[in-house]
Amino acid sequence: MKPAVVLLVSTAWTLTSAQYYYQGLMDYLENRLLAIEDRMEMWHVQSHRYHTELQDFSKLTAETMDGIRKDHKVIHKDLEGAAARVEHVEREMDYVETQTSPRACVRKADKVLEQGAWSVEERREEEEEEEDWEKVHSVSDCVDIISSIKSVKILKRVGSPKGMWTKDPRSSKVYVFNGTAGDRVYQFTSVLDFSTSPGVSSSRQIRLPSVWSGPGSAVYNGYLYYINHEDDTDMQVVKFDLLGGSVTDITIFPVESHAPVYSLNPETVADLVADDEGLWLLYATSDSEPNINLAKMDSDTLDIEQMWDTSCPRENAEAAFIICGTVYVVYNTRLASRSRVQCVFDVNDVLVSEEAPLLYFPRRYGAHASLKYNPEEKQLYGWDDGYQIIYRLSMKRKLLI
Ligand SMILES: *[C@@H]1O[C@H](CO)[C@@H](O)[C@H](O)[C@H]1NC(C)=O
Repeated sequence: MKPAVVLLVSTAWTLTSAQYYYQGLMDYLENRLLAIEDRMEMWHVQSHRYHTELQDFSKLTAETMDGIRKDHKVIHKDLEGAAARVEHVEREMDYVETQTSPRACVRKADKVLEQGAWSVEERREEEEEEEDWEKVHSVSDCVDIISSIKSVKILKRVGSPKGMWTKDPRSSKVYVFNGTAGDRVYQFTSVLDFSTSPGVSSSRQIRLPSVWSGPGSAVYNGYLYYINHEDDTDMQVVKFDLLGGSVTDITIFPVESHAPVYSLNPETVADLVADDEGLWLLYATSDSEPNINLAKMDSDTLDIEQMWDTSCPRENAEAAFIICGTVYVVYNTRLASRSRVQCVFDVNDVLVSEEAPLLYFPRRYGAHASLKYNPEEKQLYGWDDGYQIIYRLSMKRKLLI
């Protein structure tokens, strides 16, 4: 009996303790569930808020987009209006141009047809008009300007550090002027003859009746043009027939002093250029005049036709050359660095300095004593510290107005 009671009691006890255990577990689970519910509720509220906020935002975006679209339409319309106005102005410009373009020849021809017979006076007026027009617009007829220096060829080294060499475009003969003054010129039959001959021994020596002053001579079509400017004499331009061996003309050029045209080459009293368009002279009027001056001369008679102030400074100028009526002035520094074309003057006023390319010469030994342009070959004959150098140039066409 006793063990049965003990069992019963112990079972009851076990039961109650189990009940407690489960009750606690249930409470715990319930609490957890409540907490989860609370969090779910909170999450629900939050997500609802987010949702409405998102809705508001998308509404706002849609409105803004609408506004932008409307603005865009307005801008587009404005632009269309502006384009139409530009077109209108362009048409007006075209019209003005056709009214004012200098087509003297065309108009003259029209008049001949219209009027048939002219009075002599009218005709003369018309001709004068045309002459003026010619003078203003076509001092130079060709239209090449330099675009770059294509290549350089160092031919040989002969003579003094300073000197000049050039080739007659018409005869292909080469002329060498050694030093900065003299009465002798060396003539070679070709560039090849010059480059293969030892020194100047195989050349034909030409004795001049007077001294050439400075490396600024020019040879064109069998004639040598040189400057004679010795102490206490006027500056002369001499034309010498290389074939006949005699002076054919002399003119006095009106300058006040011995001021050199290029400050870095004080021996160059003036620089002559001869080409298809005649004879050009680069010179300085006086010591106080800071710019290089240019004169156009008749190559037959040595008459002075026109004079310009190029507004290119003489200071730090080393040399200059002329292509199609455009003067290119080459500058350097006293301690020779790289030569560069830094000033340009166009007698036709088509090309301005700002538009011309700043052109650098390849690195060299010293400084150019002279640079002579050959229009047939489009290359420069340079004398650089006793080296004879050929620069080949690339050309482009001048933009004509
Ligand atoms: C060039 O001239 C210099 C003097 O200026 C002279 O010493 C030299 O011999 C001349 N050279 C030639 C090749 O004539």
